[in-house]
Amino acid sequence: MSTDTAVRPKIRIESLHKSYVIDGRRQAVLDGVDLTVNEGEFVSIIGPSGCGKSTLLNIIAGLDQPDSGIVELSGERSGSADGRLGRTGYMQQKDLLLPWRSVLDNTILGLELRGVPRRQAREQALEFTEEFGLKGFEHQYPYALSGGMRQRAAFLRTMLLDQDVVLLDEPFGALDALTRVQMQEWLLQLWESLNKTIVLITHDVDEALLLSDRVYLLTARPGRATLVLDVALPRPRHYDMVTSPEFSAIKARLMEPLRSQIESVRSGGQAA
Ligand SMILES: Nc1ncnc2c1ncn2[C@@H]1O[C@H](COP(=O)(O)OP(=O)(O)OP(=O)(O)O)[C@@H](O)[C@H]1O
Ligand SMILES: [Mg+2]
Repeated sequence: MSTDTAVRPKIRIESLHKSYVIDGRRQAVLDGVDLTVNEGEFVSIIGPSGCGKSTLLNIIAGLDQPDSGIVELSGERSGSADGRLGRTGYMQQKDLLLPWRSVLDNTILGLELRGVPRRQAREQALEFTEEFGLKGFEHQYPYALSGGMRQRAAFLRTMLLDQDVVLLDEPFGALDALTRVQMQEWLLQLWESLNKTIVLITHDVDEALLLSDRVYLLTARPGRATLVLDVALPRPRHYDMVTSPEFSAIKARLMEPLRSQIESVRSGGQAA
């Protein structure tokens, strides 16, 4: 076998520290996070609210700079956040659709910012509206869309940038259970056909396990990876698997440490 088949880290994070001034004093938000995502992997991050998950994605995307630690994208270590800007597709926690733009013109925003002429960008987007469940809604405005459609529009905007690395911050957070399951299956198929490296933040344990090759559990703030769980379930995967004994066994390994993190937030202490 040639070295081409070697596992290559797309994202490598080591000893990442980040603090913010919160309530008038500087507090650690990320406290020595280590994380590796290899090319073509699907990795999820799960952890209590406020533990620094979005902060971590902001740092990877280059929107924020760590206090210390290593951040490498595709083997390149960037000394500044600027060096990482524009190198990932990033769907932030809020869909951030612009209310004055049609669905189609929202999806092409990233392409336009990159300098692609509007007409050409629209043609590109129209090729995907069917696959993203937006066909027939291209000329509607965001207020007229269901939550699921808004999320898919934001998701299409992210995917049109065609980056190898895609960061998704709770992309299905606002959805009802049924739509959420449909979106998960849809994302699974999409990922299997696109060969992207994906990092997903979620609060949903089933979602994390069903989609991922590996799950990182972060501690309550300040966040640090307390458990790294390989999800050795066969692929292709589908939602029925969540009731299988294999799935339950893996879930049990995640639930106990997750519960202790949630307990630690409830009791007001910082998790060990
Ligand atoms: N720019 C900022 N300035 C000051 N504090 C910040 C900033 N960004 C985040 N924080 C604080 O850092 C902590 C972590 O925030 P972050 O949004 O990363 O958490 P999270 O894990 O994504 O939470 P959630 O699950 O609720 O989305 C929070 O206490 C938040 O208030
Ligand atoms: Mg967040």
